[in-house]
Amino acid sequence: MKVPKRLQPLVDDGLIDDILSQLMSGKEAQVYVVRCGSAIRCAKVYKEANQRSFKQAVQYQEGRKVRNTRQARAMNKRSRYGQQQSEDAWLSAEVDALYRLAAAGVRVPKPFGFVDGVLLMELVTDAEGSAAPRLNDVALSEQQAREYHQIMMAEIVRMLVAGLVHGDLSPFNVLVDEHGPVIIDLPQAVNAAGNNSAGMMLERDVDNMTTHFGSFAPSLLKTDYGKEIWALYTSGKLQPDSKLAGRFERSTVDADVTTVMQVIDDAREQEYERRLRELAAREGE
Ligand SMILES: Nc1ncnc2c1ncn2[C@@H]1O[C@H](COP(=O)(O)OP(=O)(O)OP(=O)(O)O)[C@@H](O)[C@H]1O
Ligand SMILES: [Mg+2]
Repeated sequence: MKVPKRLQPLVDDGLIDDILSQLMSGKEAQVYVVRCGSAIRCAKVYKEANQRSFKQAVQYQEGRKVRNTRQARAMNKRSRYGQQQSEDAWLSAEVDALYRLAAAGVRVPKPFGFVDGVLLMELVTDAEGSAAPRLNDVALSEQQAREYHQIMMAEIVRMLVAGLVHGDLSPFNVLVDEHGPVIIDLPQAVNAAGNNSAGMMLERDVDNMTTHFGSFAPSLLKTDYGKEIWALYTSGKLQPDSKLAGRFERSTVDADVTTVMQVIDDAREQEYERRLRELAAREGE
């Protein structure tokens, strides 16, 4: 097919030899099947910043490491240079996450680099060599759903041990090849240790998976892996092979009701006094 404008520099540099087809265009990027020498790969072209949606939200970027203090200062100032730095940092986040997760043994497409705003990676395929279907498009038996659920919980744990929470894990961002689930779409991946929303996002990722697999295997809907995984992580006990129960025991220590009531009473009293002072001040005007 005709070379899309954004891929032309990679063709000129000899990184891509041929554009074979375009996969479904997502909200954030266009994805092409390309030929690099004798290998068939996948090229993800990110849309311009103003065409992208939620994933660049501040909430996802909190706690991300920047290259140096100069870059950090520029990004905070929101100057043109600063905005360019933010954009570069944003664009390289997915390739960074892919390298890190591949090294940690998580099943993600193997990255082949990031050039001129284009991510080159392994094309995940089905048994015939065509682009693999998304988890959302695959019907599962109850047994398979249970098995895939276990695999995904283990993958989420491995990601977290490697320091990342996917942040947008859904049946649309998991592909299924002949060996099972492969996780994709990571530009919004969240730094688990440095982001205050990481725990909430981890639970949401787990819930999305559980709800999906639960539609084939309803008993999964009773499980609660999210809180258990997060509690192990925050107490420093999470290991790639941690045994999980799928339940979360809330603290059984009785709440100290007397103290709580005392705190409420104190607050009420302070508020009453504040209003009295306000009134007195107004009368004195
Ligand atoms: N490595 C890959 N191998 C095969 N297919 C892929 C690969 N990466 C992406 N795709 C296909 O391209 C689609 C879009 O990719 P991706 O989810 O990364 O982009 P996006 O635009 O950020 O998506 P979204 O619409 O979720 O925001 C995927 O749903 C998948 O079908
Ligand atoms: Mg996607």
